[in-house]
Amino acid sequence: MPNSAPNISDDLVQLGRPEREDGRHVNLPLELGSTIVFDTLAEFEAARDARYDSGTMYYGRYGNAATFKLETLLARLEKADAVTLTSSGVAAITMAILTFARPGAHLLVADHVYGNTRGFCETVLKRMGVEIEYFNPMIGAGISELLRDTTCAVMFEAPGSGTFEVPDIPAIAKAAHAANVPSILDSTWATPIFCQPITLGVDVIVASMSKYLSGHSDCMMGMIASTAQYAQDIRKTTMAIGDKTGGQEVFLALRGLRTLKMRMEHFDKAGRDMAQWFADQPQVKTVLHPAFKDCPGHANWLRDFSGASGLFGVVFHPCSDDQIRTFVDALHHFGIGVSWGGYESLVLPVTPQRSAGTWTQSGQLVRFNIGLEDLDTLKADLTAALPHLNTLSE
Ligand SMILES: Cc1ncc(COP(=O)(O)O)c(C=O)c1O
Repeated sequence: MPNSAPNISDDLVQLGRPEREDGRHVNLPLELGSTIVFDTLAEFEAARDARYDSGTMYYGRYGNAATFKLETLLARLEKADAVTLTSSGVAAITMAILTFARPGAHLLVADHVYGNTRGFCETVLKRMGVEIEYFNPMIGAGISELLRDTTCAVMFEAPGSGTFEVPDIPAIAKAAHAANVPSILDSTWATPIFCQPITLGVDVIVASMSKYLSGHSDCMMGMIASTAQYAQDIRKTTMAIGDKTGGQEVFLALRGLRTLKMRMEHFDKAGRDMAQWFADQPQVKTVLHPAFKDCPGHANWLRDFSGASGLFGVVFHPCSDDQIRTFVDALHHFGIGVSWGGYESLVLPVTPQRSAGTWTQSGQLVRFNIGLEDLDTLKADLTAALPHLNTLSE
């Protein structure tokens, strides 16, 4: 295996594979296990001392050879110093925040974060005595006015869940950095194919690998990528809590990642095509997609991202809840379900939860995940269902 592959395409194909030797499988075998045994007590003790280093075989919960290869591949894709795998995207978010949170601390959270991130803040963190302040994600460098001596981290997302505004990542990261406060960005939507937040100054990236990174709706996993400064603390928190990534998930994630770039290139084109198609329908009030000029933060997206994934929002002109239900139920090629980033198209009405008054649109918001189906099939399905929305243009 070359040490230094020249680009992402080569890394996705070459890294995390079996060592070169005669007669080997293309892929790593499924690696399962709890106890790891040593020949001498001295070897065991050396492993125990180094158990927080990715690559040290100590005990199954700390990872195995396949886990470490996946972490190395992800770190390379994210241009991060280290990656710790977690059992889900939510676990990645909560472990990253818990690394920095403590009673009496103040946590800044972008108003448009994923619902479970907000849920964690409102329950566990508040119970721990952490003060949560939600900020307008479009605040940019203005975040510096909200930073306090007690601020333990800035948690944000790009683009926002459900509403797709794109924050000024470098401005927020820079202001946090200047105050010695770690910035944590949920970058699930873009994947490292379209954005590498560490290169924009972010300290910690969290992502759900259950979505595009594994890509086939058959794997629950998350990852925390960071600079060297925070890597050990993150790993220690994750291990202390006992979070663990299963061997089968590691196998599936490695397999899914091989095709990440070509899948994302497809979703970029297909998502924009479908979003534009929606924009031309009379029932549609607005489309929430970072590549659209009227999307808040479009200029940030143009500057910091090299593409868009296939997840976007559509705001329909006001209509009844029953009409939305009939429309969604009438779709045959869009599954109704949470999550996204697999090969199949999905639909879900969403109600943004906001505390800082950053969602003021009237109308019904529906989120679409475009999969790998033929786009004419998807358009025909939608064309047949849209007349159920007897909308009133405002
Ligand atoms: C932006 C974002 N981050 C994290 C998650 C959580 O990921 P998981 O389902 O793997 O826990 C989700 C899930 O929908 C999400 O949309």
